[in-house]
Amino acid sequence: MANKVTKIGVMTSGGDSPGMNAAIRAVVRTGIYYGLEIFGIMRGYSGMIENDIVPMHSRSVANIIQRGGTVLKTARCKEFFEKEGRKKAYDNLKQIGVDGIVVIGGDGSFRGADIFAREYDIPCIGLPGTIDKDIAGTDFTIGFDTAVNTAVEAIDKIRDTADAHDRLFIIEVMGRDAGYIALHSGIATGAEHILIPERKTDMEELILSLQEKEKRKKLVNMVVVAEGDDFGGAYEVAKLVKERLPNAETRVAILGHIQRGGSPSCLDRLIASRMGYAAVECLMYGRHNVMVGILNNKMHYTPLEKAVKAKQRISDEWLKIVKILAS
Ligand code: F6P
Repeated sequence: MANKVTKIGVMTSGGDSPGMNAAIRAVVRTGIYYGLEIFGIMRGYSGMIENDIVPMHSRSVANIIQRGGTVLKTARCKEFFEKEGRKKAYDNLKQIGVDGIVVIGGDGSFRGADIFAREYDIPCIGLPGTIDKDIAGTDFTIGFDTAVNTAVEAIDKIRDTADAHDRLFIIEVMGRDAGYIALHSGIATGAEHILIPERKTDMEELILSLQEKEKRKKLVNMVVVAEGDDFGGAYEVAKLVKERLPNAETRVAILGHIQRGGSPSCLDRLIASRMGYAAVECLMYGRHNVMVGILNNKMHYTPLEKAVKAKQRISDEWLKIVKILAS
């Protein structure tokens, strides 16, 4: 039987994502409901090491469910990946009496939590908070839905101007090494081509297809490129396209950090609320060192050590759909 958890520390770590605030709120309010004390750890693992840890109350999380970013702030902390850094963090938590942690972040953050939970007697729960959706064991990551909707809105607008000028646009979206934002936003905007890191990009095929379109006077084309694509980003793609299709009016748009900000969508608020609630229950009932996910609309728990290794796969059917629909 696991020791009873009485004081929970909650933090956000790595790149922020819309819905992190909704998750923090859910952790704080569920903890309070169950009579626990909750502490906010500022700037991820940096705040743990620097003892920047503040008590949180129900009112501390009022009026944040609709806000992007994270009220706890976030950081990527190299020091935590060294033994000494983790020791400092542990001493600070121990002094306050924190005996359970909820880490909202991506796979890098879970890697830290996994090492920490093995070294010390403080259980950690991970909540997948990343726009990239590059984590297995969950159908959703907090922030992906909002980010992809932001990308869709932007690409729709770009198509309006592309259409007015008969232009070919190469649009780069975020996702680090994952192509989910590109795939989903590309399909949803009817992009003619989508380039993702999960598949080897055949530039010759892309060029031939664009040349064929040019011949039949289909001049408005949207090529959505994931930033991690193996051929390179939008500028590399555009360079070759310009060389091989000199008559096309080619333009580049990099959507960038706009995809990380903004008010979270309804879906992101809902999953963040469910996951935050489930994280507290995990700590209370001894389901320790897991990542909370949602699979087929049911809560799903993946051991942290597995969550840091597994990636979501993209099925070939998605790419077949792109080819069939974007002709
Ligand atoms: O992981 C989220 C993410 O936005 C990636 O899509 C992107 O590659 C990276 O973070 C950008 O990081 P930074 O904000 O540190 O430049």
